[in-house]
Amino acid sequence: MNLGIIGCGAIGTDVAKAADKMKDIKKIYLFDIKPNASKKLCKALKKAEIKSVKDFLEEVDVIFEAASQQAVKEYAEEILLAGKDLVLMSVGSLFDDKIRKKLEGLAREKRCKIYLPSGAVCGIDGILSGSIDVIDEVTLVTTKPPSSLGKKYDKRKIIFEGNAREAVKKFPMNINVAASLSLAGVGFDKTKVEIVADPVVTRISHKILAHGKFGRLRAEVENMPNPNNPKSSYMASLSAIATLKRIVNPIQIGA
Ligand SMILES: NC(=O)c1ccc[n+]([C@@H]2O[C@H](COP(=O)([O-])OP(=O)(O)OC[C@H]3O[C@@H](n4cnc5c(N)ncnc54)[C@H](O)[C@@H]3O)[C@@H](O)[C@H]2O)c1
Repeated sequence: MNLGIIGCGAIGTDVAKAADKMKDIKKIYLFDIKPNASKKLCKALKKAEIKSVKDFLEEVDVIFEAASQQAVKEYAEEILLAGKDLVLMSVGSLFDDKIRKKLEGLAREKRCKIYLPSGAVCGIDGILSGSIDVIDEVTLVTTKPPSSLGKKYDKRKIIFEGNAREAVKKFPMNINVAASLSLAGVGFDKTKVEIVADPVVTRISHKILAHGKFGRLRAEVENMPNPNNPKSSYMASLSAIATLKRIVNPIQIGA
């Protein structure tokens, strides 16, 4: 299997390094808008080559987007039109109903897949299963050190309460987690989001609370930062690699 990676930052680097060690991956094509980023990563890999998306499109089986929402706008349609599977890390881009429906339609028409890794949040499997029947409520509570929001507070403060659609507009930095949770469960309008700034905490945490016909779910993760980019949670990279393994491995675990 050949892999294409768009974006050679924190997540792209971790995925490429993991793929370089997988025997099922024969070739890795890299592209980054900043040539230095792809050059640096290419040097650290055995199976990699730098090419533009257009040039590697026919060579690959699956493409990992680990770049930006802009990159999704630029390349996703072209990738799906070529009938290639696409893994999207910039899940927030699917908040735009028009873009999401367009990409979904293309993937259906071309019989390819769009994979959305659970990213920096845990508990998506339970939400996916639970949403097969009625889920009454899904709430995401994201707690951040005030410094990560560029703020100084001396005590805990709820800085946002509303639905995922509003949260996404107001806090684009939380967009990916709220977006994957919304898409897995009850949608952008019904998913509740609370963002808390707490000077006591040193790590960003995400807690999912849900109840429905399945029962109750409570899942919480406290994320370590990615060593290559402190703004990115390490869990996001690990979930991207787990998705790649899911694509490659014959045994599929989880919902
Ligand atoms: N799903 C999640 O939970 C989750 C978690 C963390 C990050 N993300 C998202 O994943 C993406 C990558 O995150 P990261 O931490 O690796 O970021 P990063 O800033 O470390 O790396 C991004 C890389 O992509 C490149 N890039 C940006 N726009 C591009 C374009 N249009 N074409 C080609 N290359 C482009 C940049 O030059 C950079 O090297 C971001 O959109 C981020 O918001 C998602």
